[in-house]
Amino acid sequence: MKTVSIINLKGGVAKTLTTISMTHILSEKHGKRVLVVDNDKQGNTSKTFGIHSYDRKSIADLMLDRNANLGEIIQHTRYPRIDAIQANMSLLTANMQVMMDSSRPQQTRLRAALRKVSSQYDYCLIDNAPDINISIINALVASDEVIIPVKIDPYAFDGLRELKEQIDVTREELNPDLHLLGCLITCFQHIDGERQGEEWLRKNLNCPVFTTHIRYSGKVVESAFEGLPIAEYSKRSGAAHDYSDFVSEYLQSERG
Ligand SMILES: Nc1ncnc2c1ncn2[C@@H]1O[C@H](COP(=O)(O)OP(=O)(O)O)[C@@H](O)[C@H]1O
Ligand SMILES: [Mg+2]
Repeated sequence: MKTVSIINLKGGVAKTLTTISMTHILSEKHGKRVLVVDNDKQGNTSKTFGIHSYDRKSIADLMLDRNANLGEIIQHTRYPRIDAIQANMSLLTANMQVMMDSSRPQQTRLRAALRKVSSQYDYCLIDNAPDINISIINALVASDEVIIPVKIDPYAFDGLRELKEQIDVTREELNPDLHLLGCLITCFQHIDGERQGEEWLRKNLNCPVFTTHIRYSGKVVESAFEGLPIAEYSKRSGAAHDYSDFVSEYLQSERG
């Protein structure tokens, strides 16, 4: 199982849309078995996959209980090859409790849990909150790869250096195999400054940028209201097209 964190300290850059789209396309188009982990208390990924609930176990239980039953935490979705771990607001208090519990390691809990199911999936995709907290550090420790969605606007670069620093520290201290794959330009609209923004990412941040850009599409908001992945709601939309190309580029880069 290859584990990929989708992450950015900013909200609204399409982390959730990217996670949902990659999960859906890897599974439905490429036949891969995917475990999607919602690591954001807002639970938007969980809602799209129809598993958001306060009656069922969530990632908070996984973080708190060393003997948590993964069979109860991992849920099936309406897609045959997609399973999911939901998040809800209980992750907020769980994070505080993890920080207070030094009786066992705090940063390796997600990794330890995911290792137990790694033979059951080809990919594990983790949708993260716009933050650096103990949940996010757990995600970086558990991951092989990182993808940073970036929406180019005047504030696009806020927090990117801090994020890169956190990735570097995690690699040095806890997860030597962590690989920053690159930035994915989202909500692309061919406006002035987008090309310069991309240059900045390459030169100043020293971070690769995926060739595929995800175009802005009005259909994306409609798909969110319907609770459907964009490639299912509107296969012909620019965003669905681009996410499909992006997943192909991602798979190609793995082979190369
Ligand atoms: N390619 C796109 N075209 C149109 N709207 C988009 C696109 N990507 C993201 N959005 C919209 O931007 C908002 C933030 O996206 P989301 O995936 O929730 O970001 P994040 O998880 O980073 O906060 C949502 O309303 C989403 O529908
Ligand atoms: Mg999100």
